Amino acid sequence: MKELQEKIKEYGTVLPGNVLKVDAFLNHQVDPILMKHMGEEFAKLYKDAGVTKIWTVESSGIAPAVMTGLAMNVPVIFARKHKSLTLKDDLYTASVYSYTKETTNQISISKKYVSPTDKVLLIDDFLANGQALEGMLQIAQAAGVEVAGAGIVIEKTFQKGGQELRKQGLRIESLAKVSSLANGKAEFED
Ligand code: G4P
Ligand code: NA
Ligand code: NA
Repeated sequence: MKELQEKIKEYGTVLPGNVLKVDAFLNHQVDPILMKHMGEEFAKLYKDAGVTKIWTVESSGIAPAVMTGLAMNVPVIFARKHKSLTLKDDLYTASVYSYTKETTNQISISKKYVSPTDKVLLIDDFLANGQALEGMLQIAQAAGVEVAGAGIVIEKTFQKGGQELRKQGLRIESLAKVSSLANGKAEFED
C-alpha cells in the first residue's frame, strides 16, 4: 500500500534492535485517515472470505482492527493482555512472548463473544516473530473457530513469523513488507 509506505518513509525511524518506530501515525499518535484506508484495504482483500468477526490484540492493533470491522460491518474483539476483575472466568487464554520487550503476556478473549460459527480475521500492527498471531490462532483452535486469515499493517519479512505461519497454511496479507532496517533505513518488498 503506497500511502502506508510513504508514511513510513516520512515519519518512521529505526531504533536499535531492528525496531521500526512509527509512533507518529500508528503506535502513539494515530492517523485516522490512514487507518480508514487500511481498513478498507483489508476489507477488499478479504471480501469473499466469509469473515464474521475481527480479532486483534490490545493496544496497537485496535485502531486498524476497528477500521476493518467498520468497512466489513462486523464486530471487533481485542484480546486483553491482563486479566481484569470484570473478565475472570470463562476466558480463552494463550501465552504470547514478546521478543522486543522480553516479557510473556497472557492474552485472553471472553467466551461470551466467541461463537463456533465465527470466521475470524486476525488484524495486527506488526508481524515480526509471529507470537501475537500464534496466540490468537491458539485461542481460535481452542474455541473451534475458523480463521479466514490475517491482515498485518507492517510485516518485517526479515524476521521469521510470516514465513513460518504461511508454511502452516495461514493466509497473511501485509500492507507494507519491510525487508530490511539496516543502516537506519526501511527497505520495502514489492
Ligand atoms: P510478534 O508478535 O510478531 O512475535 O512480535 P514481537 O514479539 O517481536 O514484538 C512484540 C511487540 O512489539 C508487539 O507489540 C509487536 O507489535 C511489536 N513490534 C515488533 N516489531 C516491531 C517494530 O519493529 N516496531 C514497533 N513499533 N513495534 C514492533 P505489543 O507488545 O503487542 O504492544 P502494543 O500492541 O501494545 O504496542
Ligand atoms: Na501489536
Ligand atoms: Na506494538
